Formats: sequence, structure tokens, C-alpha cells
Amino acid sequence: MKIGILTSGGDSPGMNAAIRACTRYAISFGMEVYGIKRGYEGLMEGDIVEMDKRYVGNILHRGGTILETARSPRFMDEEGRKRAILVCESFGIDALVVIGGDGSMRGALALSNESGIPVMCLPGTIDNDLGYTDYTIGFDTAVNTVVDAVTKIRDTSSSHERTTVVEVMGRHCGDIALYSGLACGAESILVPEVPVDIPLICRRILQAKNSGKKNNIIMKAEGVEMDAYEIAERIAATTGVDAKVVVLSYIQRGGSPTSDDRMLATRTAVKAIELIHKGSESRAIGVDGDEVVHYPLEDALKMKREFRSNLLDIAVTISQ
Ligand code: F6P
Repeated sequence: MKIGILTSGGDSPGMNAAIRACTRYAISFGMEVYGIKRGYEGLMEGDIVEMDKRYVGNILHRGGTILETARSPRFMDEEGRKRAILVCESFGIDALVVIGGDGSMRGALALSNESGIPVMCLPGTIDNDLGYTDYTIGFDTAVNTVVDAVTKIRDTSSSHERTTVVEVMGRHCGDIALYSGLACGAESILVPEVPVDIPLICRRILQAKNSGKKNNIIMKAEGVEMDAYEIAERIAATTGVDAKVVVLSYIQRGGSPTSDDRMLATRTAVKAIELIHKGSESRAIGVDGDEVVHYPLEDALKMKREFRSNLLDIAVTISQ
């Protein structure tokens, strides 16, 4: 049996751990493993290499993806997918493992429906925005990167009695802001799931200042419609405090994966190979609590993510 592995969409720390586990576990079942470069782009172009155990050596701790990745609008068209199916046939690929976010999973569903090739999807994105799994591969590392950065920002912010608006990634999901905000003791956390209330933020800053607090961190998710610089200006105009903006951007997507992300990547990868070995149809693999779970791709894509508003309530209560 021959399987292909690809990473697609934005990279996330832990993708290499997933590639390694898939490859070695598949080889232990006697499968041949092919690495597909640059996501669906490489699949359409036949940019494919055979991988042995050594090919995936020394990558467990590395961020990024050794297979590289791409966003592939061409693959969203049936024409593009027809090319990909022909490439799969010419390489004799019997099953695929796709590591990526919701766009990659939509592509996998279309490919699987049109070709009959089983595609196992692993949740590879820092955004934690997939409804079918509690956590995605790379989220924990991204949160830790934000926590590390904000710890440094706090030092200087406190010395200068400043307020800093820190913008983090997450697309339409506020989880990176929520988890890192809670872990950093951010005074306000702004997420796309909850409307922004500038007067409330200003009131909190003034109350904090009058009770002796020297600095404030406003953790803002990129999906919040209001611009970070506008938020800082409005805070400064109302409270009189010096307000700065730090956009953390791509730093959140790099770095060595945390042990949680390595574990999540490895456990979901092993399940993907087990499912392929058993002759399963396409599945999205994730976690529910401590349990590895899997669903048909169509069902997984329909599952709605619930925003953990209880965490936001806790953060607000204990950061004042
Ligand atoms: O999906 C991961 C992510 O990093 C989002 O948080 C962000 O909005 C987007 O990708 C950025 O995409 P690109 O790498 O194409 O600029």
C-alpha cells in the first residue's frame, strides 16, 4: 500500500512531528510513504518524494514543515483536482494524509468525493478554530510564544506606566487571544466572538490606575474588526495613558513545538495510519478531552466551535 502525506495552508508548529509519526508508523505496517511538497500545489504538479525512516529523522523538534506548504486556489477548482487525481493514479497512491486547517479539509473532502481515495485529515493550524476537535496542532506553541512575548512587553510597559494593545493571530477565532490573555493576566481580552466595548476598557484602565496599577495589557485577536491602532488612540484620548501597539504576527507560527503539540500531532497521526490500515473511509481526526476521536469529513466541517466564554469571564474577574 502507498500513502501520500501533505501539509497545507498556514504552517503550524507540530506539523513535522505529525509527518514523522505518520511516516514511521505507516512503514511499521509495511506501507510505502510519499511526501508531497507544497501542499495541494505539489500534488497537482507531482512534486513528490519517497520518504523512509531517516528522511523524517531529527525533525520532531522543528517548527515549520519539511514538506513546505501553500495556499492553493487552483485546487478549489475541479480542473485542479482532476490533475491531482491523475497524479495520485500515476504514483499509485492509495490513501492520503492531509495536515492543515478547514480550507485544507474542504479540499480533502472534494478530492475524496471525486476520486474515492480515502483522505485522513489532521488538524494543523495555530488558530484552534475547528469545531470537531478541542485543540489543533500548533495552538499550544503559539499561545506559549505569545505568553513569552507579553512577559517581556510587561517589563517595559510597567517601567513606563504604559498600556499596550497586543494583536495576536487566529483569523475569525479568539482562542489564541483568550488563552494567552488568561495565561498572561491581560487586563482586557478582545475577541471576535464578543463585541468590543471601548468605554468599558477605559473605565477598567482608570480604575486600575487609581488603585496603583502601573501597566495594562489589552490582548486583541486579529479577527476583531476594530483596528489595534484605533483602539490604542481611543484609549489614550479617554484615559490620558500612553498607549502602544505590538502586532506579534508570524512569530506565532514559528518555533519548536511544545510537548503538548508534539503529543497531539503524534497521537492523531498514529490514528490516521491505523484508520488507513483498517480500510476506513475519509476521516477528520482530533481530540475530545484526552481521547482521540474521528468523524466523517462532512460532519466534522459542520461541527460548530463553541467559544469558551467562561474562560473570558474568569480572565476579566481575576485581572482587575
Ligand atoms: O491560519 C493560520 C494563520 O496564521 C491565521 O492566524 C492568519 O490569519 C493567517 O494564517 C495568515 O495567513 P498567511 O500566512 O497567508 O498570511
